Amino acid sequence: MPNPIEIIKNDHAAVKELFNEYNALEADNTERKGELAGEILKALTIHARMEEKFFYPKLKEAISEEHPLPVDEAQAEHHAAKMIMLELKVMPVTSETYDAKMTVLEENITHHIEEEETELLPEAETVLAGELDEIGREMQEYKDDANKNLLDKLLGE
Ligand SMILES: [Fe+2]
Ligand SMILES: [Fe+2]
Repeated sequence: MPNPIEIIKNDHAAVKELFNEYNALEADNTERKGELAGEILKALTIHARMEEKFFYPKLKEAISEEHPLPVDEAQAEHHAAKMIMLELKVMPVTSETYDAKMTVLEENITHHIEEEETELLPEAETVLAGELDEIGREMQEYKDDANKNLLDKLLGE
């Protein structure tokens, strides 16, 4: 049974790896930069939607005096990241400020992941204990579907 905490952590690790790959590229390797940036935006978009659809609402319901989960803050951070991603989407990869923008995105995401993994995920294990299997199944299904739809789009179906 897919565990939502593991799904989220695996996504985080994968996107950090993509950022590392991006950072290791030569400044003038714009072709590979463009490809990696595309992969990063795709991974972040699917991940954020998955959390917003199946994870954050459940956490919000579980907020109590004993568990004051910062879900609104997490959501606001998603919004900030989305704004940067929208800018990157229309910016040519050859632009002088492209790397700087990617760095700002990475810093934003690193901070968000840190908070999620230290504040939200450990608490989620407690407050969503009885629902973890169900949420994990929904999240995995969503991810598989999103990736498949993207593939269909790429294949022109
Ligand atoms: Fe996340
Ligand atoms: Fe998140």
